[in-house]
Amino acid sequence: MEYKTLPGVYDILPFDSKEPWRSSSLWQFLESLIRETAAQYGYQEIRTPILEKTELFHRGVGETTDIVSKEMYTFIDRGDRSVTLRPEGTAAVLRAFLENHLQQQGSIHKLYYIAPMFRYDRPQLGRYRQHHQFGVEAIGQEAAEQDVECIDLLYTLYSRLGLQNLQVQINSLGTPSCRVAFRTALTSFLMNKKNELSADSQTRLETNPLRILDSKDPKDQQLLIGAPILSDFFDQESRDHFHDVLKLLNQLQIPYLINQHLVRGLDYYNKTVFEITSSELGAQNSLGGGGRYDGLMKTLGGPDLPCFGFGSGIERILQTLIRQKSSFPSAPRPAISLIPIGEQAKNACFSLLHQLRQNEISSTMEFGNRKLGKAMQSANQAGVRWVVVMGDEELKSQRLELKEMASGSITPVNQSDLIPFIKNSLNI
Ligand code: HAM
Repeated sequence: MEYKTLPGVYDILPFDSKEPWRSSSLWQFLESLIRETAAQYGYQEIRTPILEKTELFHRGVGETTDIVSKEMYTFIDRGDRSVTLRPEGTAAVLRAFLENHLQQQGSIHKLYYIAPMFRYDRPQLGRYRQHHQFGVEAIGQEAAEQDVECIDLLYTLYSRLGLQNLQVQINSLGTPSCRVAFRTALTSFLMNKKNELSADSQTRLETNPLRILDSKDPKDQQLLIGAPILSDFFDQESRDHFHDVLKLLNQLQIPYLINQHLVRGLDYYNKTVFEITSSELGAQNSLGGGGRYDGLMKTLGGPDLPCFGFGSGIERILQTLIRQKSSFPSAPRPAISLIPIGEQAKNACFSLLHQLRQNEISSTMEFGNRKLGKAMQSANQAGVRWVVVMGDEELKSQRLELKEMASGSITPVNQSDLIPFIKNSLNI
């Protein structure tokens, strides 16, 4: 039997020439930039378990969402509990916030995570059953500055990565009360055309009519012409908040497009929602998105705290960078490889290897008994800068020849001078 990964999941490898976005050095590069940027904005890391009680997502994400109704990895564990592999981070972070009484440690909490998420969707380029998200959740602040700080954080991260052809799409869903009135108006407008709507939208007309607005079906979009507009139903609070958000985006010179049909696929949003898309990606063009979710903490049994957050797919960020042919720092390579010839040299090299590493010099050694040519070849493949071959003669004289692979130049050094020489060359 040949073992393979399940559909829609993948390995991240030290090096992958066919799918470079799966190279671990790229992931490390992106993750460290994320951590650096999040810290600059005052966000601290939170890590929650991959498994949660299923009920959390039913309450937190919404029964009628695609995620909960079709995409969750849910099973009964050996203790007869229904558990679910986390499909998104927000509900889990709020659960952790409440369970660990974080509200006792100040009134504003700025949290971020880099974590795998699981959704049983049809796999395609940019859509996986296990994907990874960089997400932030800002808890406790209702001011528009909070919305724009988060959008700015994500936009800054993308800009620092050199992502091009980005579009920030923004909308406001208003407060829950004005949305109720809009929902009634939209439903009655679409009721007459019900039979012409796509099958998905027909179901949504009963369960979640707002989602029809962002239907990808061209016929649905046609039928929406002349439909009521959400912003016409705004109360003063919704109008003021959205106005402030747009003003602050202008102030920071973050370009945006108002998309009245942007509703997002999760039930918890109110007021601001946003998405950043890239024309470099195909159908799955959303690099990241989020919004305000002021009622969710209360729904989960906690205090009534306002919140704003976003999630951004790591895979999609890396794939966009690769498509743009951006350049990245290459994977770190060992500085030096030691190739012993004979048993005695092997012992001496093994001690020298240890000393090199104690001096923070990344190094490798040929452990087997391969011929010199083969050992040289694999040192070359590993991308080392120097090679030292040690045989009986070098052992006796304590003189080594340091060969630089790229230039082929050879530098003779006393063994005792080897480490200072390398440290000096590498500036460490
Ligand atoms: P979401 O829009 O479902 O939001 O996911 C956020 C991002 O994760 C997407 O924009 C996309 O880049 C990536 N993503 C989602 N599903 C997949 C998939 N199957 N394969 C690859 N990438 C994917 C949320 O999850 C919310 N929790 C975001 C949020 C945080 N809102 C407030 N706080």
